Amino acid sequence: MKPNIFFILLFFLIYALATLLEASTNSDGGFILEENEKTRIKRSDFPSGFLFGTGTSAYQVEGAYLEDAKSLSNWDVFCHSLGCGENGENGDIADDHYHMFLKDIELMHSLGIQAYRFSVSWARILPRGRFGKVNPAGIMFYNKIIDNLILKGIEPFVTIHHVEFPQELEDIYGSWLNPEMQEEFIYFADACFKFFGDRVKYWITINEPLLLAEMAYELGVFPPFHCSGPFGNCLDGNSDVKPIIAMHNMLLAHGKAAKLYHEYFQPKQGGSIGLTVNSKMYEPLTNSELDHQAARRAFVFQSGWTLDPLIFGDYPEEVKEYLGYELPSFSHDEKNFMKNSIDFIGINHYSTTYAKDCTNSSCSATENCAIQGFVGTVGERDGVLIGEHTAVEGSYVVPRGMEEIVNLIKIRYNNKPMFITENGYSSPDVHEQRVDELINDVKRIEYHASYLASLAKSIREGADVRGYFAWSFMDSYEWLQGYDVKYGLHYVDRQTLTRTPKLSAKWYKNFLTNNTDLVNMEASREKLNTNA
Ligand code: BGC
Repeated sequence: MKPNIFFILLFFLIYALATLLEASTNSDGGFILEENEKTRIKRSDFPSGFLFGTGTSAYQVEGAYLEDAKSLSNWDVFCHSLGCGENGENGDIADDHYHMFLKDIELMHSLGIQAYRFSVSWARILPRGRFGKVNPAGIMFYNKIIDNLILKGIEPFVTIHHVEFPQELEDIYGSWLNPEMQEEFIYFADACFKFFGDRVKYWITINEPLLLAEMAYELGVFPPFHCSGPFGNCLDGNSDVKPIIAMHNMLLAHGKAAKLYHEYFQPKQGGSIGLTVNSKMYEPLTNSELDHQAARRAFVFQSGWTLDPLIFGDYPEEVKEYLGYELPSFSHDEKNFMKNSIDFIGINHYSTTYAKDCTNSSCSATENCAIQGFVGTVGERDGVLIGEHTAVEGSYVVPRGMEEIVNLIKIRYNNKPMFITENGYSSPDVHEQRVDELINDVKRIEYHASYLASLAKSIREGADVRGYFAWSFMDSYEWLQGYDVKYGLHYVDRQTLTRTPKLSAKWYKNFLTNNTDLVNMEASREKLNTNA
């Protein structure tokens, strides 16, 4: 054989082997990462003061729904009367974090996290809102959590309102449909600042107000079950005013509480205050100008609707234009205190979808409406999914979306400090999995590793992101999906409530403590097993 033919054959052989190897890597259950996302991610890819943490929320983990003078929350009542969750499950016991928090903090400590995001149950602190007194047992419970976190060197990151509130406020006022709820919220926030602000330095006033308004008042699937429109959602541009009003009240409640914090508490306590927005990423379905505009509109109708008032003091022009007279306006005084009412932006980011224009092409009735900015969303283009399915319909694994959404928010809001307050993965095939398979959650590791790589890229490009919270610390009550949908780094046995660290918890620990890169799953598994 002539030497040049030998080299040509050798080249083809090596090429074929490399292709085979690549294919086998992709077929072992891993997400197919794009070239720029294959980066091997390391702790040192993030700035040294960057906070890594995990998160939960009160109703999803605490249980003890009527203990120590807590009142019934809107979710307690909703679940008991209507049987919420796919299997009629509820948060009565949840993960019993109320009794097991010390063990949980121990587990957090062993993970090596620097921050823990949790919410305070409104009904535990103020069982009757402004109509009653502060409940000392509720204060004591959160004091113990905060003190023990600090003892372990973990920064408490507190969400004041995460989905639930005392039922009495629903019965008396109709909750977020009534401006009185703003005063209730300020009263609650004030109690939190007063009792916990000496130690809590990061506050999130409200978790995902727009999503809450949609779920409760547009789709009517969260309490108080108000559907807008005769078929449960908006039709043909006739959006209903309820979600818009609820959103307006929540934004003003945030603004007033933030004003109180900035003027009265911050000068004495230090600390900072923000709000968390559900920020999906939208990419245009086609190359048409209309779809490009639709993707931009989708961003504005989600992230912008929430954040513009808190940073610029008013709603985005597009939202004003599409919602017309249904959108309330802020008074001059309100604009002043709303403007710059956050010190940081909390971003909950899980997924990306394609956006298509509905002003010129046909969309479903639920999409073809003003409240959605006349944008339709789809997960598929030319028969190809945008990313792998997760357990949640319409939610796909698209790691590049993290960099894209952070960049959009960076540009629109002049690089205001950001925290990724939620990012996590729930496997769609959880029903078919045995416990050992649920614990061996390689896909969750790949999700976090690839989304973190994408986040690191945005930070290298200049985004001022200060922290990342993996959602969630443990499997918990996933609202309408009950306990079936699992996001946790820890598996929770539903009979014994025993927590078992999943492979992803070990990966996170390794990533945080050893600065090890772990995108090669086989290698990581071996390494973790020997470290365990
Ligand atoms: C909520 C969490 C929830 C998560 C996953 C977020 O929108 O803030 O409470 O568990 O999504 O569904």
